[in-house]
Amino acid sequence: MRVLGIESSCDETAAAVVGPEGVLSDVVYGQAIHAAYGGVVPEIASRAHAEQIVPVVRAALEQAGVERPDAVAATAGPGLIGAVLVGLSFGRAAALGWGVPFMPVNHLEGHLLSPLLDDPAPAFPFLGFVVSGGHTTLYLAQAVGSYQTLAETVDDAVGEAFDKVARMLGLGYPGGPLVDALAESGDPRAVPLPRPRVGDLDMSFAGLKTAVRTRLERFPDTRPADLAASFQEAVADVLVDRIQRASVRTGVERISIGGGVAANSRIRARIAACGLEPFLPPRARCTDNGAMIANVGRLRLLAGLVPGPSNARPRWAVGTP
Ligand code: KG4
Ligand code: ZN
Repeated sequence: MRVLGIESSCDETAAAVVGPEGVLSDVVYGQAIHAAYGGVVPEIASRAHAEQIVPVVRAALEQAGVERPDAVAATAGPGLIGAVLVGLSFGRAAALGWGVPFMPVNHLEGHLLSPLLDDPAPAFPFLGFVVSGGHTTLYLAQAVGSYQTLAETVDDAVGEAFDKVARMLGLGYPGGPLVDALAESGDPRAVPLPRPRVGDLDMSFAGLKTAVRTRLERFPDTRPADLAASFQEAVADVLVDRIQRASVRTGVERISIGGGVAANSRIRARIAACGLEPFLPPRARCTDNGAMIANVGRLRLLAGLVPGPSNARPRWAVGTP
């Protein structure tokens, strides 16, 4: 079964075809225009999706050598509602026109199951950490469609913290990759920062972000690279600690990560060395893409799961209809 997947929940217009052979095409159009505003402007994102959706989908089909897929999947949420609506409406209409099944997909489930596109892929059950611009949640993935939330942030998402720290350092947007690059020449032990943990497994990143700001106010001469490296190390310490505790609690020793922050070089290195069996999707498969959406649509259809309602949702918990 060859499935066309469409993603438009934030600022990437993306489409891909995934079949039994693997990823046949994966086209991502990143909306660079938001950099000028220091963040994603929802109305501009929706308009850019509407402009790009046809060329992006056409390119994905052409590169895959597929004229008519066997099914269509599109992100139905969570995300910016106007942005989600563009890809979702387009995908639903295309499926109707082709006379093939349509599967609405949860964006977070896309990130969570993206390691299944790799070889080797993790067997179920595995721990899956989704660390993105809007979410920071550690799941126990038991089967396609069956997930348990083990831990989450009580305030900021990790990606949000990266973006805010980048802004404090005057680096630009999106901040994550810029902090990552700057940290390479910094000393991760130079600046003492807190490792905030909440309860047994939950996390908090608002205090860490504030600690970075306070440090900059008190010691404006702090080397930006040292601050970036120290911040990144604090985040990695918290994530690794939560993963190890979750592994002890569940007895599950396979860990995978997904979401934009999973592209971070230091976080990848720390998780690879944390003592569990790591499954780290390639960087381009961590940030938003269409292949992860096609993958979930395909796996759900193959598992015989009935498509849920195909309305766009700004919020949508993984594993719920
Ligand atoms: O998954 P994603 O592409 O979109 C959402 O679903 O949110 O994640 C975007 C987030 C942004 O906050 C961005 O700064 C962060 O992922 N990010 C990174 C890196 N690349 C992207 N954070 C840290 N290091 C990176 N290399
Ligand atoms: Zn995402």
